[in-house]
Amino acid sequence: MGKKTVFSGIQPSGSLTIGNYIGAIKNWISLQNEYDCYYCIVDLHAITVPQVPKDLRKNTLELLSIYLASGLDPEKSTIFIQSHIPAHAELTWVLNTISYMGQLGRMTQYKEKSQRSEENLNAGLFTYPVLMAADILLYQTDLVPVGEDQKQHLELARDLAERFNNRYSPTFKVPEPLIKKEGAKIMSLQNPKSKMSKSDENENGYILILDKPDVIRKKVKRAVTDSIGKVKYNDEQLGIKNLMNIYSVFSGDSIQEIENRYGGTGYGKFKEDVAEVVVEGLTPIQEKYDYYMKNKDYLEKVYKQAAEKANYISMKTLRKVYRKVGFIQR
Ligand code: TYM
Repeated sequence: MGKKTVFSGIQPSGSLTIGNYIGAIKNWISLQNEYDCYYCIVDLHAITVPQVPKDLRKNTLELLSIYLASGLDPEKSTIFIQSHIPAHAELTWVLNTISYMGQLGRMTQYKEKSQRSEENLNAGLFTYPVLMAADILLYQTDLVPVGEDQKQHLELARDLAERFNNRYSPTFKVPEPLIKKEGAKIMSLQNPKSKMSKSDENENGYILILDKPDVIRKKVKRAVTDSIGKVKYNDEQLGIKNLMNIYSVFSGDSIQEIENRYGGTGYGKFKEDVAEVVVEGLTPIQEKYDYYMKNKDYLEKVYKQAAEKANYISMKTLRKVYRKVGFIQR
């Protein structure tokens, strides 16, 4: 038996937060040795909100540089750009025809986004999760490492795979989500009840992967906590709980170890140390990022080579699908 397959992706829609890093990229790294991994830059998804074309191009290369700087290895994983592989859009069309409007309308992210972008309520926002399902199903994916917020989309991908398999005949593998408990949902530093997101109006709510040390220190210092004054992991202290999760992921220390170490000290010292582990974790990534951004030829080599493999694998699935729905062979 060959290796199992992993697929995941991130939108190239501007700077990434440590939420993206912890919920996704960091987990991807460790999967590279054991699985056949596909890590995608989902530019087709990104245009569901208005983009400035030259910024989208820049953001795409920046995201590729972040992937590489974080430790994704093009010798081990297929690191590619979604729009380079026509099968993604083609399978989306077929899956659209077995997707129910009702189910798509119930997607939490769609509901949130449609409230935010009333003047741009385009059909792409609505069928966005169908494109995501196509991404995953094309590669006969076993596992999809994502943050908690993508769980509902994953369920849709599973439903569509099963529906297609039942209606025609077994074609798609039904994928499983891989959501790590710690770090599945990193919260805003300013409002620990809502997800850390780069679309937050308050920039103190998020830490970007490319934030400089002083900015990180300032943002952690300003993070909202509580008046209890004891570093303890529980749902009464959501701000502290979030900082503990961040500390734990970056340092590798368990929550219990962190409680033991900081239970007796005040929040001041704890916050200082949280900022330091984040700075220590991000600095080497930032240095490598600068290196890759200066080597555009290398980036091009990476995505072009990956596109060949992604194209080959995805076309195998697409050909099967086209045959089963009754299209004449090209
Ligand atoms: P996107 O670009 O919004 O986010 C990329 C990844 O980061 C995770 N994430 C978080 N994890 C923990 N805490 C947070 N605060 C946080 N914010 C973001 C997300 O869960 C995600 O894993 N639709 C997807 C991209 C996509 C995709 C796919 C993913 C397209 N096709 C196929 C997996 C498989 C999205 O918009 O993610």
